[in-house]
Amino acid sequence: MQSARGVTITTDVEATVERLRSGGLAVIPTETVYGLAADAEQPGAVARIFSVKSRPPDHPLIVHLATPETLSDGWLDPSTPAILAHAIERLATTCWPGPLTMLVPRGPRALDAVTGGRSTVGIRVPAHPDAQRILNSFDGGLAAPSANRFGRVSPTTAQHVLADLGVLLDPGRDIVFDGGRSEVGVESTIVDLSVWPPQVLRDGAVSADDIAAIIDGPLDDPGGPSRASGMLASHYAPRCAVLVADSPHQAATLAAHHAESGERVRVLDRTADVVLAAFELYSDLRAADDDDLDALIVVLPAARGIGHAVRDRLIKAAAGSGRPTNRVD
Ligand code: TXA
Ligand code: MG
Repeated sequence: MQSARGVTITTDVEATVERLRSGGLAVIPTETVYGLAADAEQPGAVARIFSVKSRPPDHPLIVHLATPETLSDGWLDPSTPAILAHAIERLATTCWPGPLTMLVPRGPRALDAVTGGRSTVGIRVPAHPDAQRILNSFDGGLAAPSANRFGRVSPTTAQHVLADLGVLLDPGRDIVFDGGRSEVGVESTIVDLSVWPPQVLRDGAVSADDIAAIIDGPLDDPGGPSRASGMLASHYAPRCAVLVADSPHQAATLAAHHAESGERVRVLDRTADVVLAAFELYSDLRAADDDDLDALIVVLPAARGIGHAVRDRLIKAAAGSGRPTNRVD
């Protein structure tokens, strides 16, 4: 099948791997969100990820591997201190494949093109069965950020990717693998394992409590300027204004206020099921734009489990909508 712009949309693993080997980009499904992938060891292909996404060069990429064992195959610095190596091993064994990214001291296969010259590399083993098939056949590392324009809403379907990036892909070189809807719906948890105690830099389906229990040790609060760009105050933003409320009552008050001034508003309350809230989050944000709303008013879920991640993305989407005072406390 082909998109309107002629980019091939496929479910063929070998066709996808072939494009990646020849230096093209492949949109691949993962259980969190869709990724825009390139061979992590071809700097020219990696550079195209940045240009297609309009992504600033100081935002490094996550390298996706097929199995936890591959980590020691040139991606992790073999001289990593034992206390870190032990925690990395515990997390890799327990959480991979799955929605956890570890920043680890980089080995020789992690190129500057991927890490932006940092001493760490982000690594993840995704659980999505098609991502697994592609990675196993590719037999290397795939650098992949979320497949959206920089600062915009992450995609959880191949159709989301085509709507956002379709015109920027090269039909002669690139390909889109359609693996259905991403099951988790929000990006992976990012934990920095290059420092002790480790720091959670981005919330995701694996909670900080889970991580602390698995490493059986402390976690530090991320201090100072953030080291993961997903931590930018404004991100994940649709075109319409996003306003967050702490209760249905506050949401209703806000909605009435905005409707009075003639705005098209919608209230979204998925607090009853936070796993579903994560699954639907980016579709909900896109639907607000598709329906031409002026404002989407969202009730924040409780700060528990994946609720942390949903709150984080919504608060950043609200900051991105250019209304600094729209947080209702
Ligand atoms: O779930 C996910 O993590 C998805 C799927 C495709 O795997 N990927 C994803 O990638 O969300 P991206 O690039 O959109 O977000 C990764 C974040 C970025 O903010 C990037 O700057 C940060 O992780 N990051 C990656 N490597 C890093 C490193 N070595 N040091 C600091 N931050 C890093
Ligand atoms: Mg992203």
